[in-house]
Amino acid sequence: MLRSLGGLWALHSLGGLWGLFLLSSTAATKVCPRPVGIPGAQYKPEKLVYEPGNVVVYSCLPGLLRQGGYNWATCSSAGVWIPATLLCARRQCAPPDPLENGNITYADKFQSVAHFSCKEGFVLIGANSSACNESGKWNESLPTCQPLTCPPPPVPAFAQLSDYRPNERNVSGYQDTVRYECQAHYAMFGNDTATCTASGNWSHVPECHDVSCDRPPDIQNGFLSFSPHGKYRYQETVTYGCKPGYVLEGPRVSSCERNGDWSARPQCRAPCRVNIKKATVLYNGRKTNVEDIAHGTIQHGDTLTYFCKDSKGKCAHLTDSHCQDGVFTVPACYKEPKWLWSTEPSKLPVCSDAS
Ligand SMILES: *[C@@H]1O[C@H](CO)[C@@H](O)[C@H](O)[C@H]1NC(C)=O
Ligand SMILES: *[C@@H]1O[C@H](CO)[C@@H](O)[C@H](O)[C@H]1NC(C)=O
Ligand SMILES: *[C@@H]1O[C@H](CO)[C@@H](O)[C@H](O)[C@H]1NC(C)=O
Ligand SMILES: *[C@@H]1O[C@H](CO)[C@@H](O)[C@H](O)[C@H]1NC(C)=O
Ligand SMILES: *[C@@H]1O[C@H](CO)[C@@H](O)[C@H](O)[C@H]1NC(C)=O
Ligand SMILES: *[C@@H]1O[C@H](CO)[C@@H](O)[C@H](O)[C@H]1NC(C)=O
Ligand SMILES: *[C@@H]1O[C@H](CO)[C@@H](O)[C@H](O)[C@H]1NC(C)=O
Repeated sequence: MLRSLGGLWALHSLGGLWGLFLLSSTAATKVCPRPVGIPGAQYKPEKLVYEPGNVVVYSCLPGLLRQGGYNWATCSSAGVWIPATLLCARRQCAPPDPLENGNITYADKFQSVAHFSCKEGFVLIGANSSACNESGKWNESLPTCQPLTCPPPPVPAFAQLSDYRPNERNVSGYQDTVRYECQAHYAMFGNDTATCTASGNWSHVPECHDVSCDRPPDIQNGFLSFSPHGKYRYQETVTYGCKPGYVLEGPRVSSCERNGDWSARPQCRAPCRVNIKKATVLYNGRKTNVEDIAHGTIQHGDTLTYFCKDSKGKCAHLTDSHCQDGVFTVPACYKEPKWLWSTEPSKLPVCSDAS
């Protein structure tokens, strides 16, 4: 190498401006011009002039293949290139067989590199690309696309599989599903169904948690069934009841929910005293004397329909009043008959809407 560099080696050792001067004055006559191009190839480095001993390296353009020859040229001390003999040519590999359940694409128009992919639900076994090499052969063998499988699904703590049907090789196929159940009194968080995904794993595996509820609150004028222990577990229930005469509003049964709360808080609604002695009303669809209503009380939600005389005393309007949690008000339009001989309003004809 030193020999081919000739005087240049000496110049470098002098260094500095003096060296630069020597370079331009003594080497000027010996430089090489740009090297000749080779079809289908490029070279590096690219410069305007090359000094004796400089080397350029040729490479085939993308998509072209080296068919042989030397790929480097040297600038001789005489200022002449010792040329490269590189030969570049298009691909010469036979197209690969079609990929079953997959697809072959090419990186360039010369089809020198093939890329392999599989359709959804299949996994590529083998190389994902292959290059056409100098001997006209694909350097990697054709891969295959195999149906995707998921291993047996994970079973989270306190859970069990309720609907799991693996194939004979104990694996599941793409988009197969499995269902989970939590053990008794464990609450599920997440979706009960997991799916075998395109990544070969299971999506949405739920969790099962131990859930408990505190003792449910007492209700006024009522009672509830207690369990002997103070704690209740998920889905355990209590049953509410009311003192006689009181009406339960809301569900009778309340259950411990996943959030640790109770599903229902019913209430006991009070009965009402009917405070006007003399009246004939409609009660449960029958004309009833108020005095005959048992104990003079009606239950929450019950309705009494009063007969209100109209201003001329010729007919009666029907007016409802409801018992609402112990509160009952006789309709303002109702007047107790003042005289023994007054016509009892319930005996009058019912007023038509127009009057
Ligand atoms: C294969 O890939 C090409 C290019 O992306 C596309 O046009 C073609 O539809 C694909 N074929 C299949 C079967 O996926
Ligand atoms: C092909 O495989 C290589 C190495 O296994 C990987 O780095 C590359 O991302 C893959 N290419 C594609 C398109 O999957
Ligand atoms: C095939 O060619 C590619 C691209 O040149 C290279 O990355 C890969 O390692 C080669 N494979 C083999 C088996 O030589
Ligand atoms: C081209 O690839 C084939 C198959 O991998 C291999 O047998 C052959 O040696 C390769 N040729 C060159 C020049 O790398
Ligand atoms: C499949 O898995 C179950 C449970 O893990 C095991 O009992 C059974 O032997 C397995 N069957 C095969 C064919 O591997
Ligand atoms: C569980 O997931 C499936 C699919 O993603 C969905 O159809 C279903 O409605 C989900 N069920 C619940 C309870 O969220
Ligand atoms: C499934 O695998 C993919 C890719 O490895 C990953 O990104 C994803 O988080 C995994 N999903 C689950 C539920 O493990």
